[in-house]
Amino acid sequence: MKFACGAKIIGVGAGLPVSVVTNEDLTRLVDTSDEWIETRTGIKERRIVNETESATGLATEAARDALAYAGIEGDTIELVIVATSTPDNLYPSTACQVQAAIGASRAVAFDMEAACTGIIYALSVGQQFIGSGTYKRVLVIGVDVHSRFLNWEDRNTCILFGDGAGAFVLEATEQSDNQMLGTYLRADGNGGHLLWIPNTGTQYPHAGTDGPQPTTRFLQMNGRAIYEFAVNAVPEAVRQATAAAGITVDDIDYMVPHQANIRIIKAAADRLGIKKEQVVTNVDEMGNTSAASIPLALWSAIRRDKVKIPSTMCLVGFGAGLTWGSAVVKWTAVDKRGDAASTSEKAEKAEASIS
Ligand code: UT7
Repeated sequence: MKFACGAKIIGVGAGLPVSVVTNEDLTRLVDTSDEWIETRTGIKERRIVNETESATGLATEAARDALAYAGIEGDTIELVIVATSTPDNLYPSTACQVQAAIGASRAVAFDMEAACTGIIYALSVGQQFIGSGTYKRVLVIGVDVHSRFLNWEDRNTCILFGDGAGAFVLEATEQSDNQMLGTYLRADGNGGHLLWIPNTGTQYPHAGTDGPQPTTRFLQMNGRAIYEFAVNAVPEAVRQATAAAGITVDDIDYMVPHQANIRIIKAAADRLGIKKEQVVTNVDEMGNTSAASIPLALWSAIRRDKVKIPSTMCLVGFGAGLTWGSAVVKWTAVDKRGDAASTSEKAEKAEASIS
């Protein structure tokens, strides 16, 4: 696709709940074990919101962190896109709430939903608005609070998810400096029944008569089918996005996949011939944070100097819808706060609980 302007990512940020829930903690809720969860998923712990935390709050925190990384003010943002499946309310949109909180008074704001692939879809939409010359700075946020939609008596699902928000800042560049090298988006609604949350939709049973049905108001998943879908979807998306970028898989320095399950990530990397040290993961410490997981994984890796800058990265997502997609980006952005970033209160807090 030909764009009038180039785009590049200039910031990444995170918004995380304070509370860490370990696998051991979950053994007090369901019949499971730390060994089972870690072996089958790679997850050791996850962050879960408390009563005062919310999707809007986490998204705002991630936005502020990404703006600080980029060294820019909120009032220079012209578009806020929030990818979420678990907003605080049907409306106002999370994006509008973030827009107000960060003082982006000139910005247009809207939410969009592509489940765990949402951040890839949102990045692509942001690139379109920049590429067409409409906006120069776009804030793209992925946030999910799945803990409010989980059946905490269902061991098949409640062990998998964590809450969190991740954000990117996109900026217009000269065409010659374009760093959003190639994208690939897919959807297949025929698999919609494999992963769904009926809660809050118009088909959700009305609570007025017999009350909500506990088996239908929570996230439902056919884990095995999603697993099979994912191990094929990730390699396809990586190959197609690299082809769109005019490069090959061998030209990628890092793959930053949706953090659902370490076995899915390893199987996909093996199929692509991508080495372990090229795969960016933090599923062990955050679980599956859905639309937030890709920026959160990259945020963790950058903070710990685990990725070299500049580098070529393939961000790749998959999830409910079904949806899947990928974006190949050249990453040159460094944290404008310098050392301040690693000594911030939030960073210290995260380090204390995950290392
Ligand atoms: O963003 C996308 C979101 N979803 C996903 O990415 C999910 C993809 N799928 C997966 O990650 C895996 O399918 C799971 C981790 C969900 C499950 O792993 P699995 O190897 O496919 O296990 P399974 O579903 O085949 O279950 C094996 C056994 C079953 O027991 P039986 O029937 O063999 O006696 C389950 O009841 O493991 C049992 N089981 C558990 N045991 C202890 C399921 N959950 C648990 C648990 N603790 N938490």
